[in-house]
Amino acid sequence: MSIKVTSKYPSNIALVKYWGKYGNQLPCNASLSLTLSKAFTEVELECLPKSSKAVEIEYFFEGQPNPAFGERVAKYAGAQPEFAELLNAYALQIHSHNSFPHSAGIASSASAFAAITAALYRAAHPGSELLSDRIMSHLARLGSGSACRSFYGPYALWGELEGVQDSSNEYAIQVTEIHPEFRNMKDAILIVESAPKEVSSSKGHSLMKDHPYADARFKDANRNALEMVATLKNGDFSSFISITEREALSLHTMMMTSRDYYMLIRPKTVEIIQKIFQFRKDTTLPLCFTLDAGPNVHLLYPEKIQAEVNEFLSDLAKDTESIIYDESGTGGITLNYMNGKA
Ligand code: PMV
Repeated sequence: MSIKVTSKYPSNIALVKYWGKYGNQLPCNASLSLTLSKAFTEVELECLPKSSKAVEIEYFFEGQPNPAFGERVAKYAGAQPEFAELLNAYALQIHSHNSFPHSAGIASSASAFAAITAALYRAAHPGSELLSDRIMSHLARLGSGSACRSFYGPYALWGELEGVQDSSNEYAIQVTEIHPEFRNMKDAILIVESAPKEVSSSKGHSLMKDHPYADARFKDANRNALEMVATLKNGDFSSFISITEREALSLHTMMMTSRDYYMLIRPKTVEIIQKIFQFRKDTTLPLCFTLDAGPNVHLLYPEKIQAEVNEFLSDLAKDTESIIYDESGTGGITLNYMNGKA
């Protein structure tokens, strides 16, 4: 019997950042993200006959073998009892494709681990539907923390927050009460530099362990997450702007004040942020920036002001390598199962 599964999951951009973890990929604070739609990973998983008992996963990214990522996936999948039978029975070949360029300031591990988890689960349970989003989110979290938020949209919350029902460190949940103001958001990703990151996110998370500001940061992020949940409900754009921008700057401040300090922003990053401040002051339009763990700037704004933002975007294009136009999405997308002739 041949089993082939394809899955397609989007990335997400955190508005309130996950930075610092403990135990088995558990977050030191709650995070809240906007799910993207055009930035996704597509995975094709094929189950082939095998003779040995060892876990065998061959991973190809954009057609090229990627043994390092293959090893990461094998370690992840091998540790989940959910996938044990599948890994015992088959050698797996995974072909993965991203809709966005590598190192573009989009979390590729989020979309990749969401897509890989969904494909593995479906292959492990042929014929059955996917498990609930919460269980899938929990499984994906064990591969990459931010992946657990890609199962919902347009907003997902991960991390236990007092007062928010069902919130958990184990999995993400959908933020259900969204004011019309925030339902259709645009994310123009301004690529300042597309070189690979000098310092990985895993290293960054680990630097929070003995960070002098760790406790204050975790408390502040939880406060921001709670405030963001309320803001998304009440439609207050100035609060959205304030939380999102504070969070982006706080993330980078953590990097710059770690014992092993480092800096991922570039002069162009700062120049663009200042242009955004000025444009917002001049026009009073509701738009703001966020940053992932890199120099590229995400410009966030509601769809309804697209026409007013277009000219500003052409001006910003002069400061960037390129611009990726994305928007909010609804999370997990397609999944096909093929067995034998299918
Ligand atoms: O999921 P990881 O381990 O790649 O960490 C993601 C960290 C940030 O992207 C910087 C923040 C976040 O919440 O996504």
